[in-house]
Amino acid sequence: MELQLDAVMKNYKSKQVLKGITLTMGTGVYGLLGPNGAGKTTMIRMLADVLRPTKGRILYDGKDIRDLGDAYRAKIGYLPQDVSFYGDFTGRDYLEYSAALKGMEKARAKRRIEELARSVGLWEDLKRNCTAYSGGMQRRLGIAQALLDDPEILILDEPTSGLDPHERIKFRNIISAYAKDRLVLLSTHIVSDVEQIAAQIMMMEHGHIRHIHTGGEYVHMMEGRVWLVEMPADRLVDFQNQAVISNVRAKDGCMEVRIIEEAKPFPDAVQAMPTLEDAYLYLFNYLPEKARR
Ligand SMILES: Nc1ncnc2c1ncn2[C@@H]1O[C@H](COP(=O)(O)OP(=O)(O)OP(=O)(O)O)[C@@H](O)[C@H]1O
Ligand SMILES: [Mg+2]
Repeated sequence: MELQLDAVMKNYKSKQVLKGITLTMGTGVYGLLGPNGAGKTTMIRMLADVLRPTKGRILYDGKDIRDLGDAYRAKIGYLPQDVSFYGDFTGRDYLEYSAALKGMEKARAKRRIEELARSVGLWEDLKRNCTAYSGGMQRRLGIAQALLDDPEILILDEPTSGLDPHERIKFRNIISAYAKDRLVLLSTHIVSDVEQIAAQIMMMEHGHIRHIHTGGEYVHMMEGRVWLVEMPADRLVDFQNQAVISNVRAKDGCMEVRIIEEAKPFPDAVQAMPTLEDAYLYLFNYLPEKARR
């Protein structure tokens, strides 16, 4: 299975939001990272076929998804960035209703609802009105909804926003097991969500996909560019305006500061093992804009 964007552009009035995206995705997990307003949701909504490109095409196995229509949408599970719940629905009602919309057969729907409610940790809460769920619980209900019909293409827009650390780990496990022979595309601001599980990580900015690499390739790129240095807390207040700092932690009455820098920033700085988050900060916050393209 192959999903392709072919020179996809999107304008809102005169504003160009996606500036000609061409890429091909196969099976596996694809992570989509980028600052607020980069165009992640716009791209995702087009792949979910709820928004049409202004120009360009999206192809599923070589066929335009506009021509495939319902046949394409039947292959998709989609979690929008903002889902609002209203009315008198329990969690179970919501999932049953979603299953009916997807045309799922009743017995299978019942079985899937049970399986998924257990795996996202909502089994005990299915009887409760979902408008009374916490933000993280509503997010997990949305994830279960997207997974219901075993879609071949699973598209999740910030699935982990609001999830606590334990639930985020459970989510990662569900997704990496799920993606074995399917395509999962997820956007997130939590870099560690995709670091371990994504086969390819896309970094998007100003309507362009600037980079597509494996997590390992990003980390490799950062070797020799991440430093640890200790300094007193009051010096840090000034220093943080002159440097890209990826982390700070208290250590022996001092602050240990993690700095992104091409060359050793202080004589006593020591090199650190890079992470994907360091690469993100390097690409979006360290390099001047013209050097990023
Ligand atoms: N319906 C709309 N009308 C006009 N402009 C829009 C519309 N939807 C999005 N935009 C603009 O398109 C750009 C990209 O928005 P998009 O929601 O795709 O970004 P994003 O990468 O998902 O950001 P975030 O990380 O905040 O979710 C932004 O400048 C946004 O203001
Ligand atoms: Mg978004």
